[in-house]
Amino acid sequence: MSNPNFSRGAAPTLRRHLFLIGFMGSGKSTVAAALSEALSLPLLDSDACISESLGESIAGFFARAGEEAFRERETAFLKSLRESAPCLISCGGGMALRSENRALMRELGGVIYLTATPDTIFARLAADTTRPLLAGKKSLTDIAALMDARAASYEDAASIRIATDGLRPEEIVSELIPLLHPFLSEGESR
Ligand code: S3P
Repeated sequence: MSNPNFSRGAAPTLRRHLFLIGFMGSGKSTVAAALSEALSLPLLDSDACISESLGESIAGFFARAGEEAFRERETAFLKSLRESAPCLISCGGGMALRSENRALMRELGGVIYLTATPDTIFARLAADTTRPLLAGKKSLTDIAALMDARAASYEDAASIRIATDGLRPEEIVSELIPLLHPFLSEGESR
């Protein structure tokens, strides 16, 4: 993917962490992968890191230990980032729910909020069976209600907000890149 917003041959580096947040199915993992590739940025996925440290799937841990225990792991994951070099981080959909997590993300860097309408999320998640919080609750009304309950937390955490409805990942990345200058430094020429 071309990168028209940085000098030719210069790879930008992250000054601080950059978090992608949003509801399940908002496209965080896909957009994070595309953005990481476009700008050669190191990438982490909070669910993958937590699952690896637990030695079990997120769904398995939810079923065994419950949501609150998972939220503790998310907070511990954010704290661990204080020690690591700046990364692009795709977050689980509930990462912004705790005010402590919102404060941690703001302390550590920038927060990109990917929005989508309930109809878009409903269509994207129709065939999904992996999200414990949507098990047995995947009507448009259920999704809209959970999104509504979370909206204020996402808005509170966000430094950048992008509507993803009807856009391909590369179009979202093109919209995002010009907004990322506060978080990037021009790197060495390659
Ligand atoms: C959750 C979203 C999931 C995962 C867990 C809880 C949530 O991540 O962290 O199932 O509370 O919204 P995705 O947003 O990547 O599906």
